[in-house]
Amino acid sequence: MPSNYAGLYIGLMSGTSVDGIDAALIEISDSGIELVKTLTGEYSSKCQTAIKSLMLEGAGRELETLMWLDVELGSAFANAALTLIDEAGVEPSSIKAIGSHGQTIRHYPSQIHSAIGSTLQIGDPNIINQRTQIPVIADLRRADIALGGQGAPLMPAFHQAMFEKSGTSRAIVNIGGIANITILNNLNITGFDTGPGNTLMDAWHAKHKGTQFDKDGVWASTGKVDIPLLNQLLADPWFAKQPPKSTGQDYFNLEWLKTNCPDNNGIEHLQAEDVQATLLELTAKSIARCVVQSNVDETYICGGGANNPTLMRALAQQVEAKITSTNSLGLDPNWVEAAGFGWLAWCHLNHKPANVPAVTGASNTCVLGARWG
Ligand SMILES: Nc1ncnc2c1ncn2[C@@H]1O[C@H](COP(=O)(O)OP(=O)(O)O)[C@@H](O)[C@H]1O
Ligand SMILES: [Mg+2]
Repeated sequence: MPSNYAGLYIGLMSGTSVDGIDAALIEISDSGIELVKTLTGEYSSKCQTAIKSLMLEGAGRELETLMWLDVELGSAFANAALTLIDEAGVEPSSIKAIGSHGQTIRHYPSQIHSAIGSTLQIGDPNIINQRTQIPVIADLRRADIALGGQGAPLMPAFHQAMFEKSGTSRAIVNIGGIANITILNNLNITGFDTGPGNTLMDAWHAKHKGTQFDKDGVWASTGKVDIPLLNQLLADPWFAKQPPKSTGQDYFNLEWLKTNCPDNNGIEHLQAEDVQATLLELTAKSIARCVVQSNVDETYICGGGANNPTLMRALAQQVEAKITSTNSLGLDPNWVEAAGFGWLAWCHLNHKPANVPAVTGASNTCVLGARWG
């Protein structure tokens, strides 16, 4: 790893699960990438509600809400970075840059929405830069989209930098709101979104239980998988599509669930816990299929889904090869993505291209992001 701009970086990520702001302080040196300190930043419930409403089409007064949220999130990201710096006991001037992913509101690259061809992440980088006085690298997806790519997934290059081992093929699966896989096979790198991660389980749980997620998959484990529903959901042509492919909550949501029921029969006649069990199985099966097809020696899970033992067990049942979390590679699964966005800031300062055209479908590699401050 070149040592230009070696030093401390912060990665900020607010994922589609809208469960909090992941802030990671990392150190990049000749010997690799180290996680120094982490923090989960909060946003108000008003903010959370606004994010969730904007993610779906048809929310009222969208522009006003979007502009308000851009400022609100910029400020929440700045707070997360400043608290992280304070808790780590480092000088702000010692941080080379902050890589801020922002909050995805809609993901409509031309392969998904031919009339639009863009993706929208908000959380004003100007505010983060002014408040921290640290250069901010943001807008990390659109250079790839300008080259005809999907701007996603962006983590494969980081997974390669962090987890590649020569002579061993590895899959790294990130189970966030949406799940994505990176396949590292002797310098050959591929990757794509596999479909829903936690998003459908979270949405169904929130609707029936009123809280954000099914802790440890306990509720799902009380239900029984409904095979006709599972098969119908898995029959969605999206799953069989060849990569490059990416997706978002704007596709996999409760409306999708409703419109994909067997015989248009609805799901109301099913027990809610059986639907939860089915959604967990759908997540496990759609990921496991991709892992099995990749034929790798080892599989490592990261993202919030790694904390769900019921989901991890369902995955292990489908995949015969060894599956563990990235903990066994020395990086806490909850912080892989935030660390990755810190690393993307380092890539930007070093003019190092970090998109992988085989993954996103872009016509070329490019330096990702732009710089504020
Ligand atoms: N103990 C747990 N049991 C079950 N699910 C969990 C647990 N911890 C985290 N999760 C899941 O992980 C999600 C957050 O994952 P995360 O990687 O932060 O996703 P995103 O990048 O979309 O924000 C939560 O919404 C929840 O579904
Ligand atoms: Mg999250």
